[in-house]
Amino acid sequence: MANLLEAIKYQRGSLKILDQTLLPESFDYITLKNTDDAWHAIKDMKVRGAPAIAITGCLSLAVELSNSQTSFQTTEKLSEFIGNRLKYLVSARPTAVNMKEAASRLSLLAEQLSASEKTTTVHDVMDRITAEIEEMLDKDITDNKNIGRIGAERILADSNNFPVSVVTHCNTGSLATAGYGTALGVIRSLHKKTMLKHVYCTETRPYNQGSRLTAFEIKHEQMPGTLVCDSMVAMLMKEKNIAAVVVGADRVVANGDTANKIGTYQLAIVAKYHGVPFYVAAPSTSCDMELKSGAEIVIEERNSKEMTSIKGVATAPKDMSCWNPAFDITPSELITGGIITEFGLFKPSQLETELESTPDCVCGH
Ligand code: MRU
Repeated sequence: MANLLEAIKYQRGSLKILDQTLLPESFDYITLKNTDDAWHAIKDMKVRGAPAIAITGCLSLAVELSNSQTSFQTTEKLSEFIGNRLKYLVSARPTAVNMKEAASRLSLLAEQLSASEKTTTVHDVMDRITAEIEEMLDKDITDNKNIGRIGAERILADSNNFPVSVVTHCNTGSLATAGYGTALGVIRSLHKKTMLKHVYCTETRPYNQGSRLTAFEIKHEQMPGTLVCDSMVAMLMKEKNIAAVVVGADRVVANGDTANKIGTYQLAIVAKYHGVPFYVAAPSTSCDMELKSGAEIVIEERNSKEMTSIKGVATAPKDMSCWNPAFDITPSELITGGIITEFGLFKPSQLETELESTPDCVCGH
């Protein structure tokens, strides 16, 4: 298998991200020196995907801290700075919960450390926060591999025809995470077991994460794959003996309703009509048990330029009125296969109880 693509390259004091707006034509890394650089890279979708947004944001803070060793007089001032920078990073994109989860956890830790008698110096607090942030990289890859294994096993257990063909939407692979991926990790795992007959990836209009990024990963991994337009999925499910749809999530809330890339909802409706199991693959860092239903999720609306042009070439009349919600909410009853987390696969109705009984879960309960 080919080496995994790296969306994020980090060494203490240095952070680079692959500029995903340039793919598939160019493969260029850009340097992020601080949280301001990261905020803009996230907003402009140079880095995107819920886990990658959070990891990049937090690592940019670690880099900023390591390059400003002497500028904090007290641990309280440092803790205040960390809290403010994290809040700022959360504001770049509102729908994915991962950055918010990381911000709450790290701000609280910084407050506790600054109040503790054990971590008395600014240096102590910086070291602990940096170490905590650096752990996010390895943890995300480990969680994704577990999601991949659990999801692949379940899809195979639920199917009676091997190898299997699956459909995915948007990009949930190495490019959207620290590595391996969530929904694409499940597909990668099926491929590793030689149980993947075919993966169909949607183009994912308007920003084409499917054709630009997922197709790129499928080719890179030499998986058997085909690109389809979003408007072809009903025909695809009618014609191609699809065993499962597996997608990622930006936020899964307590009742199992799931925010993910625009178009996920219609894919789930089509899957239900055709009796194809629909799975959401998401780490617990994408689960937000503080919100009770999908109606409470804030959906980001993006610039209409993403709809009216591709790489500067007009695809719609100038000044055409557009509506560009970046995400939609799939109601839990359409998630018929279940929600695959690093702790196991759960029915949407069991998610909250199952995660609550998991001591390692960070999902806000
Ligand atoms: O707008 P994007 O590209 O950040 O949207 C990404 C998605 O919707 C992904 O499915 C989700 O973040 C999960 S990535 C593992």
